Order: sequence, then structure tokens, then C-alpha cells
Amino acid sequence: MDTTILEMREITKRFPGVKALDKVSLSVKRGEIHTLVGENGAGKSTLMKVLSGVYGHTTYEGDVLYQGKLQQIDNIRDSEALGIIIIHQELALVPQMSIAENIFLGNERANYGVMDWDEVRSKAQQLLKKVGLDESVDTLITNCGVGKQQLVEIAKALSKDVKLLILDEPTASLNEKDSDALMNLLLEFKSQGITSILISHKLNEIAKVADSVTIIRDGATIETIDCSTHQVSEERIIKGMVGRELTERYPKRDCEIGQEAFSLKDWTVHHSQHKDLKVVNNISLNVNKGEVVGIAGLMGAGRTELAMSAFGRSYGQNISGTAYIDGEEVDLSTIEKAMNHGLAYVTEDRKECGLLLEQSIEKNISLANLAGISQRGVIDQMQEMTIAKSYQRKINIKCANTQQDVGNLSGGNQQKVVLSKWLFTEPKILMLDEPTRGIDVGAKYEIYGIINELAEQGKAVIVISSEMPELLGICDRIYVINEGRLVGEMPAAEASQEKIMRAIMNSGDKQ
Ligand SMILES: Nc1ncnc2c1ncn2[C@@H]1O[C@H](COP(=O)(O)OP(=O)(O)OP(=O)(O)O)[C@@H](O)[C@H]1O
Ligand SMILES: [Mg+2]
Repeated sequence: MDTTILEMREITKRFPGVKALDKVSLSVKRGEIHTLVGENGAGKSTLMKVLSGVYGHTTYEGDVLYQGKLQQIDNIRDSEALGIIIIHQELALVPQMSIAENIFLGNERANYGVMDWDEVRSKAQQLLKKVGLDESVDTLITNCGVGKQQLVEIAKALSKDVKLLILDEPTASLNEKDSDALMNLLLEFKSQGITSILISHKLNEIAKVADSVTIIRDGATIETIDCSTHQVSEERIIKGMVGRELTERYPKRDCEIGQEAFSLKDWTVHHSQHKDLKVVNNISLNVNKGEVVGIAGLMGAGRTELAMSAFGRSYGQNISGTAYIDGEEVDLSTIEKAMNHGLAYVTEDRKECGLLLEQSIEKNISLANLAGISQRGVIDQMQEMTIAKSYQRKINIKCANTQQDVGNLSGGNQQKVVLSKWLFTEPKILMLDEPTRGIDVGAKYEIYGIINELAEQGKAVIVISSEMPELLGICDRIYVINEGRLVGEMPAAEASQEKIMRAIMNSGDKQ
């Protein structure tokens, strides 16, 4: 049998104003885990959309050979009929439907036109078991965190007859434990003969599972490394991705830590739907001027709920506790009040709450600070453009121009727009929720540089992150939260992944 399952030859794909792919070639062996890496906007998602028929075969140049045959894939149905299943970077589940309904959506099990709900539920149950998700099939998607949603997407893929599974950054929103579990799942699929293409910015997981690594830069293939014959070092991958050596991952910060800028005392928040459930339980914490404070914890620990509830009660109900800014008690009960007090919150969920996808980059950046671009109440569009251009340069937003719709940007570049939007509000206290999710290594470095700059200007920064090395690399102090409670606090200099995990585990024992 032919060892190559897929060959994409010299694929060129243009969008108005951009050549997203410029003669990219990709060859994938049957049964392997092939990883695709590259900077934000390099063309990874576009290449996979070509393969899965999101972009029909008349819209690009080049050939796709699958199972040895030239294919003309025109839509998702065509690719699914070949056993090619893609899980997109932005998840596409229906929030108000249950897990079971989502799994079989568009693939309903009907007997003579009547849905067989018992079968749907029991099949869904089996699939959840396969992906290791311990959740009722009747749970609504809206009540599942992104990590669980990811597993539901995979369960959905498995409900079809999958031969080639494409995962576009499946672990971007997962913590290390869940990412690890997902990587093990991929290895298990491999043992069952399923071929996978995995896109990821997390180099450690690539090292763990990859049989081959293809590096793409600016729409072109740089190289494919065969991991069975070559040692793949992270340095080699990074160099291929960004085109230069990156000698350090975390830029140094040199600033004095000043007075307390912001604190919460006895902060308690109840679940927005279940009023008896405490998602944040009596937490007190603070951040000083010029300080970067991290919040570590597992998914569902209550970190996002904590930050959002403080930011104008944008999450939760029956919120109690006191907030202080510069030592004075403040009322943060609406988003407007919070923003007027100099607070900003950069969301982890850019698609749902962070961006207007059908609006330009310029409009999105100015959105939270219209006063900053207005003269006597009238928006100055030139200034709006100038501001957008300055952020485009500063954090390297890859786009044709700043009037382009945000929805057309690559995932990582959308994230950079969300960040720009809140930086433009010039906050005194900035809360960043998973700020580098889906961001490539080079751009991460740029974002850390911006965090440092803010701290050096005397701003206070709170970073929520599931990537522990990141917290250890950029923070002065780290809080650990588990199941809504504060279970540890340590200077970053004394912290380690083990210490953070231990704080979480020990607290679990006590509860
Ligand atoms: N529908 C579209 N219209 C216009 N330009 C697009 C469209 N889709 C993608 N692009 C552009 O094509 C390029 C490649 O984007 P793509 O989404 O493939 O990048 P990526 O490698 O997946 O990046 P990331 O790591 O950020 O997800 C980018 O410059 C992007 O702005
Ligand atoms: Mg992408």
C-alpha cells in the first residue's frame, strides 16, 4: 500500500490584497501525526480549508492528491465523504443545544424520518467516553467551557468515518493537563490507523506527538522534518517559523514595584445560572503599580469569573466583596464605571465577546475608547486610522490594510486586535485573560514586551494564563486559584510548575 495518504502540490490561494498561500506543498504519510507550524497569518488554516473544501477547487491553484487520486473537493460534504474531517480553530457548536444534539447535528440518526433519541444519546455517551469527557450528554454547550467544547468537537468528528483528522489549534484554550490528555488521544487514534494533521503553537506538544513537522512561513513551505530520523529541536522550528534565532523567550523587565493599585477583598461570585453555586469564594488579592501578577489554576477554577465579575459585573450574580483602587473603595458595578476607574479586561473568548467580526480593524480598535478619536463628539476617521496603524506596527498585526474586516484575519492576528483595543483605552489596571492564546512564539515575545512597557509606565497588570511557563516567565508574583478559592500565593522567583500544581492538588484534598 502507498505510504502517502495526502499530497498537496504547489497550492496557491489568493484573497483580495493577499496571497495567503504561494505554492505550498505538503505530503502526509498514512497513519502519522503530521504537525503544521508557522507564524500567525502564515497560511496554516487556509491550507487546511483548501483540503477540507471550505475553499472549493476552482478557487485556488495546485493539486490535491488523496489516497493516490487527484481530488476535486468542493465543499465539506465532499471532504467528509473521503473521511477527511476538520475541526476548525474557532469552534462551531450551537450553544443552546445539548452535547448529544451537537454531536449529531447535520448527521442525524433518523428512522423513517423520526429521530431516534435513545440511540443518539447512547451513541453520544460512547463517543464522550472515547474522548474522555465526563459530562452528561444532555448538558448544554453554553454550560461547557472551551476545553470541554473541544472534546465535543472531537467526539463529533469520531461520529463520522474519519480517516484523516485535521485539528486546527485544538489545545490553544486547554490547560496543560487537558492538552496532554488530548495528545494521548491523538496517539491512540494513530494506533487505530487514523492519520492526523495537527496545527499548534505549543512546541512542547509537537515534540511529544509529531512524526513529521512542516514549517510554513509567509504562505510558503520552508521544510518538512521527519522526526524519526532527525532530532527536532524547538530552536530549529522557531528559526524556521520566524526566520531568525530567538535567543530568549521572555524579555527582561526592569522596574520598581510601587504602591498598591488595585485590590479585591472577600470577593464572592455566584454562578450566572445557578444562584447557589459559588464560582469565586471569598478571594482577596491585590496588584501594585509596576507589577505583573499572574493567576494560575486549572480550567474551571474561577479565574475568568473572578476577572469578569470585577470588570463591571460582566459575569455572575449575587456578587459581594469590596474593590479598592489606589487605596480607595470603588464602585465597579457596571462596565462603564470600571472603565472610568481605569480598569480594562481583555477577554479570553475573542469571538464571543471581544470583536465585531464584520467590522474593520480600525473600528474594532477604537471601539472601547471612542472619546480618544473624537473631536467634540465627532469621530475623526483619520485619527482612527492613524491609531490603528500604530498598533498594527507595534504588535505586528498581519493584514492587507487596517480597513480589512477582522473576521478575515488569522486567529492569532484577531487576538492582537483585541489586545490593541484595550491598550488604546490606556488602562491603569489591565487584566489579561489568556492573552497569548493562539499566538505564535515570535508574537508572544512582542506581547510580553508590551506588558513590560506597561509595567514600566507604572501600570498594574494581572495575567490569567493556563501556560505555566508563561506565568513563571513574565510575572512578579503568582496567585493560585482552585475551585473558586485562593489556594496559594508565591513570588515568581520562588515558584515552579510543581509548586503551583502542588498548591492545586493539596487544596483538592482539603475540600
Ligand atoms: N477570508 C479571507 N479573506 C481575506 N484574507 C484572508 C482570509 N482568510 C485568511 N486570510 C489571510 O490569509 C493569510 C493566512 O491566514 P491563515 O488564517 O491561514 O493563517 P494561520 O497560519 O492559520 O495563522 P494563525 O496562527 O494566526 O491561525 C493571512 O494574512 C490572513 O489575513
Ligand atoms: Mg489559523
